[in-house]
Amino acid sequence: KRPAGAPDKSLARPVTKVGVVGAGLMAGQLALLFARRLEVPVVLTDLDQERVDRGVGHVHGEIDKLLGKGRIRPDKANQLKALVTGSVDRQVFADADFVIEAVFEELQLKKTIFADLEKIVAPDAILATNTSSLPITEMAADLQHPERVVGFHFFNPVAVLPLLEIIRAGQTDDATLATAFAVGKSLKKSCVLVKDAPAFVVNRLLTRFLGEVSAAVDEGTPIPEADKALSALGLPMPPFVLLQLVGLPVALHVAETMNRAYPDRFAVSENLAKVVAAGKSSFYVWSADGKPSVDPDVEAL
Ligand code: 3HC
Repeated sequence: KRPAGAPDKSLARPVTKVGVVGAGLMAGQLALLFARRLEVPVVLTDLDQERVDRGVGHVHGEIDKLLGKGRIRPDKANQLKALVTGSVDRQVFADADFVIEAVFEELQLKKTIFADLEKIVAPDAILATNTSSLPITEMAADLQHPERVVGFHFFNPVAVLPLLEIIRAGQTDDATLATAFAVGKSLKKSCVLVKDAPAFVVNRLLTRFLGEVSAAVDEGTPIPEADKALSALGLPMPPFVLLQLVGLPVALHVAETMNRAYPDRFAVSENLAKVVAAGKSSFYVWSADGKPSVDPDVEAL
């Protein structure tokens, strides 16, 4: 059943090649999902060959893991590896009908990327963003064809979590939205149509939740105790482990966005800000047998 407000699916345009801007971990997860579910060529780009090679290598490694678990057959693994390629030259997107950006969360950077892409792709090629919280209407504002911009917000781990928030920006037209829904369905995701508002829907709740747990820690509760308390409630993952999965800089970025938009409702955790400023990617270190303990560097901050 179509979500309320989703346009008629007959407006959807075919997608025969996908571009992914960025070759980091999120970009790689997206590339694999698109290749596996749409069975079309997917090309990743990044600033230099080393990043591109690392990104494509990571995706090929994930394909090998699927093969090792018996989730795909050897011929499928080879097909997927051939479908996922990389380049430093964005001209490879010239014949792509759907390009998604998964770069650092910086509005101006994303605007510049979309402006560059517009010079390369066809006028009706979709430009999608996987932003966690940035305003998509503004991201599209200076484009010649802002009506082809749409939010396509996945949740980590992309291969496992079923949710896809499809965000209609102020200028998004029905054909773009219909294509986004058709793609989301082919990706086998549960697509929801959400408004372009700070952090959309799910990240608002997640940020509030993680922010309150972080506040308890800022006020003196030890991290493992906070995690133990929330785990015992039956959550799939303790909050400070979830923060690592989300990425500490991303979590901080969303908290700052929400704090700017709704200062009375969203605070920025002092601990989170300090840990990010120290360049840490986790609150914990893990022993060889997989047991977490709070990183002594974090404790010393
Ligand atoms: N990539 C690919 N597959 C993964 C994975 C990853 N990073 N992590 C786990 N998996 C797979 C495993 O391989 C396993 O697959 P298999 O059945 O084929 O072996 C399956 O997921 C289950 O994994 P596990 O048995 O190891 O672990 P769990 O049962 O504990 O589940 C989890 C792991 C799915 C990550 C679960 O802990 C969970 O749902 N955690 C919460 C995640 C969450 O809330 N994410 C949202 C973050 S917010 C976000 O992303 C938005 C952004 O804008 C900030």
